[in-house]
Amino acid sequence: MPGNVILVGFMGAGKSACGRLLARRLGRCFVETDDMIVGRDGRPIPEIFRQDGEEAFRRLETEAVEALGLKSDDVIATGGGLPCREGRMEALRAIGTVVWLRGDLVELLARARRGGQRPMLDGRNPAEIDALYRAREPYYAQAHLTVDTAGQTIDQVVHRIVAALREAHARV
Ligand code: S3P
Repeated sequence: MPGNVILVGFMGAGKSACGRLLARRLGRCFVETDDMIVGRDGRPIPEIFRQDGEEAFRRLETEAVEALGLKSDDVIATGGGLPCREGRMEALRAIGTVVWLRGDLVELLARARRGGQRPMLDGRNPAEIDALYRAREPYYAQAHLTVDTAGQTIDQVVHRIVAALREAHARV
């Protein structure tokens, strides 16, 4: 199994910020699936959603997952919805150690709303967002490792990820 570390979790979980710092700590390259999609398509994500709709974006995610098969030993941050389709978690688990950055929904949403445009949150009321989160949890829960981020700083989360990876690798 290639030794990538793949971060999954809901919007606002800190996948990008923690992934970047984790990569630096581990001396690895950092890759974001959202950046791969934007680089290939040429449009910002909100524009892809606006012009072509969610399904078109999900097809671009499928291509990104296929391209991830070429990576080894990278730290990879995935978009919040990427793992939540048939077969996606299996594909991620096949290329490395998948880590779920689990958080408290209120905190996740506050962070997600601070950090730029999130087309999946636009026009959804709190009950709909809650339902989206609940529907996604079973996918995230298929990660090899879970790290709780509630009330934690980026630095603390990265510490926890490194500790969880060490412990997991000591077991095998
Ligand atoms: C999405 C999350 C976003 C981005 C896109 C769709 C989602 O990434 O991929 O807007 O469906 O949850 P982040 O999780 O980095 O916000």
